Amino acid sequence: MATEPIKARRTIRKYTDEKVSDEQIRDLLLAAMYAPSAWGKRSWQFIVVDDENLKKELGELTSYSAQAGQASIDIIVLADKNISSSWIEDASIAAEHINLEAAKLGLGSSWVQIRGMIHDTMDAETYLRNLLGIPDNFGICCMITIGYPAEEKPPHREVEFTSNKVHLNGFSGLGEAA
Ligand SMILES: Cc1cc2nc3c(=O)[nH]c(=O)nc-3n(C[C@H](O)[C@H](O)[C@H](O)COP(=O)(O)O)c2cc1C
Repeated sequence: MATEPIKARRTIRKYTDEKVSDEQIRDLLLAAMYAPSAWGKRSWQFIVVDDENLKKELGELTSYSAQAGQASIDIIVLADKNISSSWIEDASIAAEHINLEAAKLGLGSSWVQIRGMIHDTMDAETYLRNLLGIPDNFGICCMITIGYPAEEKPPHREVEFTSNKVHLNGFSGLGEAA
């Protein structure tokens, strides 16, 4: 049986004006720092953005980032490529820990893709690197937007267990439901 934050977590893109507290921000980052990392190298770094002008910029970063402008905070998840060749995996798991902790705290959150996305005529990663002064050796994985939810989404249903995604002792085809 999945544990509660895993079941409760949904992508929330609409937020109230209420600000998340410093203690909640610390809890979110601490959760990220519990993430496993390749060779235990903890290659990640986190940029918390609460400045209204910067958040507005983040809201316009990609075609799918509008909620960043409305969120209480946005957390950019980076990892040092010089420390770990598995930086994408390290950063992704840490980012998902933030999502799950947000669900536990009753906050809404959403993952915003940055890697491979476009901002106007340049790639979003380069734009963000310049905006926030991120050194070249840091890969930018994603941004997690956080705030008090202004939309309700029910937990995913238990029936979403999808047996044609599971194979025993070798790849056994996708079955009739594929
Ligand atoms: C790698 C990845 C990239 C995503 N990129 C975006 C994004 O750029 N903007 C956005 O609003 N949601 C993004 N999402 C959220 C997905 O749209 C969302 O997880 C999916 O629709 C399932 O909904 P749920 O999170 O409520 O289960 C992303 C999720 C993942 C895992």
